[in-house]
Amino acid sequence: MSETILVIGSSGQIGTELVEELRNQYGNDNVVASDIKEPQTPQKGPFEALDILNKEQLLKVVERHNVKEVYLLAALLSATAEKNPEFAWELNMNSLFNVLNLAKDGIIKKVFWPSSIAVFGPTTPKKDTPQYTIMEPSTVYGISKQAGERWCEYYYKKYGVDVRSIRYPGLIGYKSLPGGGTTDYAVDIFHQAIKHGEYKCFLNATTTLPMMYMSDAIKATIQIMQAPKENIKIRSSYNLAGISFNPEEIANEIKKHIPTFTISYKEDFRQKIADSWPQTINDKDAQEDWNWSPEYNLETMSANMIKNLKLIVT
Ligand code: NAD
Ligand code: SER
Repeated sequence: MSETILVIGSSGQIGTELVEELRNQYGNDNVVASDIKEPQTPQKGPFEALDILNKEQLLKVVERHNVKEVYLLAALLSATAEKNPEFAWELNMNSLFNVLNLAKDGIIKKVFWPSSIAVFGPTTPKKDTPQYTIMEPSTVYGISKQAGERWCEYYYKKYGVDVRSIRYPGLIGYKSLPGGGTTDYAVDIFHQAIKHGEYKCFLNATTTLPMMYMSDAIKATIQIMQAPKENIKIRSSYNLAGISFNPEEIANEIKKHIPTFTISYKEDFRQKIADSWPQTINDKDAQEDWNWSPEYNLETMSANMIKNLKLIVT
């Protein structure tokens, strides 16, 4: 039986697009999608209903499909996690342990686990945030990502686990909906612009955050997993940069395509989360170690989002 790849949390914003691209590259039957939720799109390959907190169920799926690589995407994101801190900690940490332990036991060979810009906090330098800097996250989500990074590096150094990780910025795509983050506005704004011509933003006009178009994020994810082992010098998590912008700037970009579009602002609890995060990220280690470079800027991303969403959203 051939070796397969398992994506856990495949029905979410990233998983939906990652599974599609992995299947393009490795073949439909060689990529197993799994989630506690039904997929957002029709599946071209196997799908397993899997709760990542259930170790026995995980092992059964891994053995049934001869899984050797795992992409672990199941998590509670920043906004949802603040509403249920204890469960966020349980899900975000125990999911990681369940997968890292399979690798430690030699059952799987390689693991991808994403960290986030949320790993930084209010005391981190906000501009050109370096790979190594002050990290005092103030959200339960950020704390879980910081702890996760430490555990990834520990499992690599202590047990030789081949775990690879990226600190994703906020991700923007048209194929799937986001799942409860602070950067979700940057997806919703496109949907509302096309459907209603207006958007009420929960962040203020000048809140600059690091963001990235989904196709760049998928490219980076597969690129770091395919890189030779010796190139992966950072085993906590790599900084990754795409585009940085604020709500006013993205609204102005949308107006180039939809001139009547209007935006208004009403901050909610997510403003405080956003204020604790960096504005721009220095990702020179990812560039040097595994040849990372993004393709999309604000202009090309917005044009692509609007063109594709107009075909889908009614
Ligand atoms: P999402 O919320 O859209 O998807 C997560 C998926 O995990 C959901 O489909 C959910 O049903 C599933 N899930 C939840 N609990 C589960 C369980 N017990 N067992 C199995 N599946 C379960 O999240 P996303 O945006 O796709 O993010 C994926 C990963 O990337 C997360 O670790 C997140 O922290 C990280 N990340 C995302 C972004 C972003 O902007 N989307 C940015 C930085 C980091
Ligand atoms: N996009 C994510 C969030 O807002 C960042 O990790 O939670």
